[in-house]
Amino acid sequence: WLSAGTASLAIFLIIIGISAVHGGHTPAASGIETINPEHVRDDARFKEPGLKESADDDYDYDLYFVASAFMYEPGEVEIPSGSTVKIHVTSPDVVHGFQVVGTNINMIAEPGLISTYEMTFDEPGEHLIVCNEYCGVGHTDMTSMINVV
Ligand code: CUA
Repeated sequence: WLSAGTASLAIFLIIIGISAVHGGHTPAASGIETINPEHVRDDARFKEPGLKESADDDYDYDLYFVASAFMYEPGEVEIPSGSTVKIHVTSPDVVHGFQVVGTNINMIAEPGLISTYEMTFDEPGEHLIVCNEYCGVGHTDMTSMINVV
């Protein structure tokens, strides 16, 4: 039974490998922007993360977040009620989560990739942001806050 288990594991890994390399089934190949995790702080968008007026007519603001052990930057952000915001999240160190409580926003902040999600905040209120991927000893302290005003 051990041999059967080992053999099936090997088969699955080979299938995943072929799918990723030959099928192009990787996040980067599906249009997600990549970033060198060592240079997140050198990137103008993530050097001073936060809310920026959008240059795109389709939405009002870009909101940049850096998720690192064990904090989010910014630690708190205000969004005008009724605005459509495109959120961009990345990590310079390990995999973190980015869940905005009370909304559909639940992303992974992965080193090397910029996760994005567009959302309209209609109702004034507070939304806690929590890390929902275990990232180390400070995981449970890793929070931020979106205030819709
Ligand atoms: Cu960051 Cu858990």
